[in-house]
Amino acid sequence: MKKIALLALPAAFALALTTNALADGAGVYADNCTKCHGDDGKGATKMGTKLGCKDYSTAAVQSAITDDQAFKSIKEGLKKDDKTLMKPSELSDEDIKASIAYLRTLKK
Ligand code: HEC
Repeated sequence: MKKIALLALPAAFALALTTNALADGAGVYADNCTKCHGDDGKGATKMGTKLGCKDYSTAAVQSAITDDQAFKSIKEGLKKDDKTLMKPSELSDEDIKASIAYLRTLKK
């Protein structure tokens, strides 16, 4: 019994790592970002309008931000004066990167 458990453990661990690495950007975005930025990245949702989300379907808005800056703002949160625009994310680094990659695809 003990031997089987010891063999199964690394396999489960490897599977978890693989699933993580293949993080589905569209899914991460849908679950964590659409509420504000919208399915289309335009930010025309109730929350997005209230908080002043920019239109990420436009090239101008997309090119104004680097992936590194986007990552930092999502990971550490984004504030304007003392108003919180985005809370620091609890997503893994891989998921944050995947969600940014997906956001990039929303540029028309
Ligand atoms: C509570 C609403 C909310 C959620 C949820 C949210 N954002 Fe934002 N986000 C904002 C607002 C407001 C801004 C500032 C205006 C703008 O750039 O659209 C912003 C800014 C950004 C920026 C630009 C950051 C910068 O430094 O200028 C990126 C990129 C971004 N969000 C991506 C995401 C992604 C990807 C997710 C999901 C993982 C997400 N946001 C979740 C509201 C939100």
